[in-house]
Amino acid sequence: MRDAAPNTIHLKDYTPFGYLVDEVRLTFDLAPDATRVTSRIAFRPNPETTDRRFFLHGEELRLLRAAIDGAEIAPEITDEGLTCSVPDAPFVWEAEVEIAPAANTALEGLYLSNGMYCTQCEAEGFRKITYYPDRPDVMSTFTVRINGTHPVLLSNGNPVDSGEGFAEWHDPWPKPAYLFALVAGDLVAHSDTFTTVSGREVDLNLWVRPGDEGKCAFGMEALKKSMRWDEEVYGREYDLDVFNIVAVDDFNMGAMENKGLNIFNSAAVLASPETSTDDNFERIEAIIAHEYFHNWTGNRITCRDWFQLCLKEGLTVFRDAQFTSDLRSAPVKRIRDVIDLRARQFPEDQGPLSHPVRPESFQEINNFYTATVYEKGAEVIGMLKRLVGDAAYAEALDLYFARHDGQACTIEDWLKVFEDVTGRDLSQFKRWYSQAGTPRLTVEEAWQDGTFTLTLSQETPATPGQPDKLPQVIPVAVGLLNPNGDEVRATEVLELTQARQSFSFDGLAARPVASVLRDFSAPVVLDHDLSPEQRAFLLAHDTDPFNRWEAGRALAGQCLLDMITEDAAPDTAYLDGLTAVLRDDGLDPAYRALMLGLPSQSELAATLHQRGLIPDPQAIWEATETLRQTTAQHMQDLLPRLRAESQIEAPFRPDADQAGKRALGSAALALLSRLDSGTQAAADYACADNMTLQLSALSCLLKAGKGEVELAAFYDQWRGDRLVIDKWFGLQVALAAPEQAAETARRLSAHAEFNWRNPNRFRAVFGALAMHHAGFHHASGAAYQLLADWLIRLDPVNPQTTARMCSAYQTWRRYDDDRQLLIGAQLDRILAQPNLSRDTTEMLTRIRGS
Ligand code: PHE
Ligand code: ZN
Repeated sequence: MRDAAPNTIHLKDYTPFGYLVDEVRLTFDLAPDATRVTSRIAFRPNPETTDRRFFLHGEELRLLRAAIDGAEIAPEITDEGLTCSVPDAPFVWEAEVEIAPAANTALEGLYLSNGMYCTQCEAEGFRKITYYPDRPDVMSTFTVRINGTHPVLLSNGNPVDSGEGFAEWHDPWPKPAYLFALVAGDLVAHSDTFTTVSGREVDLNLWVRPGDEGKCAFGMEALKKSMRWDEEVYGREYDLDVFNIVAVDDFNMGAMENKGLNIFNSAAVLASPETSTDDNFERIEAIIAHEYFHNWTGNRITCRDWFQLCLKEGLTVFRDAQFTSDLRSAPVKRIRDVIDLRARQFPEDQGPLSHPVRPESFQEINNFYTATVYEKGAEVIGMLKRLVGDAAYAEALDLYFARHDGQACTIEDWLKVFEDVTGRDLSQFKRWYSQAGTPRLTVEEAWQDGTFTLTLSQETPATPGQPDKLPQVIPVAVGLLNPNGDEVRATEVLELTQARQSFSFDGLAARPVASVLRDFSAPVVLDHDLSPEQRAFLLAHDTDPFNRWEAGRALAGQCLLDMITEDAAPDTAYLDGLTAVLRDDGLDPAYRALMLGLPSQSELAATLHQRGLIPDPQAIWEATETLRQTTAQHMQDLLPRLRAESQIEAPFRPDADQAGKRALGSAALALLSRLDSGTQAAADYACADNMTLQLSALSCLLKAGKGEVELAAFYDQWRGDRLVIDKWFGLQVALAAPEQAAETARRLSAHAEFNWRNPNRFRAVFGALAMHHAGFHHASGAAYQLLADWLIRLDPVNPQTTARMCSAYQTWRRYDDDRQLLIGAQLDRILAQPNLSRDTTEMLTRIRGS
């Protein structure tokens, strides 16, 4: 057990380890209850420091033997590791420990999933495998021997030797322990090869459980596309003879970039048209790319310490977004990313969990794999690229790889390459890494004598531990449109560096309409007071696809807010503008499908809160339903045409083109189902031959209060497929009426197939409940209590997944006193549990606040 007393780690306290590791040799004798791990590690004093304390991390290990240079020793052991005295010269450490993978339910370290051994070491899981300096700045080559009866025995690097009951692997690239991986199981491979740009042939394997072979082809194609793309766009070649991916059913996160042996949550890699939706396919392609891209951004160049997590994650998210933009549609990807940023990162940044992209302290690093580090971290890189330009960005990246290959780096190293390439001083820009909170960007307009002036001001609200903020560098992409709809000024990037600054455009014949923050050029809340007519104009004419979508979104948002706060009727400017865009069959179907989306209910709650009002979740729900219903009526005549346009004759392909058509078809079906009470959806369900259509038809039926028969049939059809059954669980909660959501989740949690120890299944039910805004915040408080009951149950079993789910409560201060009282009581109840994990304790203490 770890120390119960909160132990905060600070960035400012970083010191290098006193020893370097030249070589690691590990032998695993696998057994479910007593796996023997033998280590042989070559240490030498680190010339960079005089600190000679020798401390090796180790948790939940049974030490059987330890020796230095062959002589047995008796180290001093605590819950967190061991110390002993060592020579002031190179020496060899040897240890034998015993661990119990079968008892490991936390899914960190070495554990069993359906009888298959696998590991998860990021961030600090290697210390549950053997004694080691488990920190990312300690890098070494690894040689691993696995003794076990399983037919497939894998580790990092290249295969060296294998035979009956054993396999040996060698990874020639020095790496931190968090990138270590081992897999042993009864697995089958979907194999292929890839020839790198310099002509080396790499064996590619996607390892799955027998039965899942049919779900590998798409992932393999995505891998090959990723390898090619990284060569072509970043000049990065793969560096081992083999690249293995393994799918596991029990995994806390999406996937993990272990060197040469990526381990994936099966939901993040297995795909087939019958069982996966278009969204699943796109996400899988992006995750495969993400993990593959880590080979250079993360593995070859890693992080000095965990405070630098965004160094690898922000950059790798940015790279995978570029990849998706290149392969699919750039505007669609951008819009989807902004929807996601607003849904996940903004609430984090605007609530008690707010932290900088590079945090300065933590208690449990697992709690900092956040939307802020990942998604805002990627936005920061997007801004940097916009500020320095594409050519300088490419040059800076080349320098980054050349200068830092093989090193464990910091954000300072990263920014320095940009400074060296451009000669720019990035010290103010660096505030994006240290200041938390979402800046609010306010736009004022003035028009005089042919000169149009935009006055931009910025303000970042106080966040926990950061009461006062300094101005940041905000790239604001702006274009100007003539009243006739022509673009009179093409996109230009204004650099806002002061609290308030004016930018003028002269020589204009008429007052233009300004399109501000094009392509969402900075992760800010934009406050630009436009009239509904101006927004409708931008919705019809903006040449920037992002801002054209954004104009529709803002109109919808304002319309909903008026309905909520003033009982207004749905705005016809929105309905007419939207209908005109949907009619335009020159526009990409995927883009039009996105146009039909509404701001989420939780986003509306956030906006009301920002305006000093108390959001009523039920009223938000009702307004959204009313607007949906009105939209359906308004577009009644258009819906059959949209459905006809979305018909696909060709065989199923999960590409952007077909996916866009299906998305438009589904959106149209959802509206139609409000008018025909599900008749068309029932017909569609009956002939659906892929999961996208099947799920969309089923959703429409459930939403219409129908579909009981289909829901049961769906279960019978897919009872052998865990990933599809996860959808079956999640859908019922997501589509329940607000007053039914908690009860639906409770009923499902009593289902025989509700294996709550499996993170995917737990999240299918309780993640869906937390995301059901009006259901989770139903005035009864039933959902608050139900979730708390389950978090209390899950915490001793899997602290990491429990802690992540706590964020469901993070927005609690937005709501009325009654709800705050109800949530506060649940937070206190969980916090009062004896032996609550460090993960959950930290999350709830931060959410609870003072
Ligand atoms: N490093 C992984 C990724 O971003 C995420 C991860 C973190 C997975 C911690 C497991 C544990 O790709
Ligand atoms: Zn990552």
